[in-house]
Amino acid sequence: MSRYAVKTRADSPELRKAAAAIEQVAWASLGFVNYTRAHFAYYERLLERFADCQLVLVDEELGYPVAVGNCVPLACDFDNLPDEGWDWIVETSATGPEPHNAIGALAISVPGVHRGKGLARVMIQAFHDLARRKGLQGVIAPVRPSDKWRHPFTPIDEYIGWTDERGRAYDPWLRSHLACGGRIIGPARRSMVVEEPIGFWETWTGRQFETSGEYPLDGALAPLKVDRERGMGSYVEPNVWFAYAA
Ligand SMILES: CC(C)(COP(=O)(O)OP(=O)(O)OC[C@H]1O[C@@H](n2cnc3c(N)ncnc32)[C@H](O)[C@@H]1OP(=O)(O)O)[C@@H](O)C(=O)NCCC(=O)NCCS
Repeated sequence: MSRYAVKTRADSPELRKAAAAIEQVAWASLGFVNYTRAHFAYYERLLERFADCQLVLVDEELGYPVAVGNCVPLACDFDNLPDEGWDWIVETSATGPEPHNAIGALAISVPGVHRGKGLARVMIQAFHDLARRKGLQGVIAPVRPSDKWRHPFTPIDEYIGWTDERGRAYDPWLRSHLACGGRIIGPARRSMVVEEPIGFWETWTGRQFETSGEYPLDGALAPLKVDRERGMGSYVEPNVWFAYAA
């Protein structure tokens, strides 16, 4: 992996711009998850405040980044993590107590063209190295199981235990975290909560929601719940808590 170098958004304006492009491409149609209350209130400012924690993996042969890893420092109890995973990390890092004892991982973004080469695993390792360099106890991560969208009605508590025909974790992204030495703490059942008017959901999905009910969406890990009376749609994304000791 020597052709790859871990840099940060703080290193140069060019890297900051390239990191934004990588994130946009990797999340593309999943961009609706960026509308949680915590994201809206704190996320952009947190990335600036902890710019040295926004990691960018540069392919030095290509001369351009191929992956981005976002994380923030916070204070937490590794064995007692709440159902509000991603939103909780953002809010706790922005407003919670200090001193910090952990790195909270928020996202790893790899554009489609560079997936399946182990680059995301390099970023998991980079979070780990960062925690060690900062003298913190380790890393916590509310992991977004990448194949769960194929099974939106399966409860996360059940999905966590699924295995493939070789006895490995069924979900490829959970598998990657396990392969990197992560320990599953349990489900984060309300990791990201997006509650927006029905018009928001029609804009993102190009679909119409004419009756109240539960709708699976492309890429969504749980169904969208539409309430016509209130004119609202709510998406509650379940994740899986992992912890890594430094
Ligand atoms: C989730 C995501 C980051 C995973 O990226 P990825 O590149 O596929 O993940 P990895 O780095 O773990 O690649 C692992 C696969 O590459 C293979 N691989 C190939 N070369 C490898 C190498 N040198 N080292 C390790 N794995 C390698 C592995 O075998 C593995 O496949 P397997 O699990 O079937 O065995 C990416 O799909 C993505 O950006 N998705 C959209 C955003 C998102 O959901 N992010 C995660 C939530 S925070």
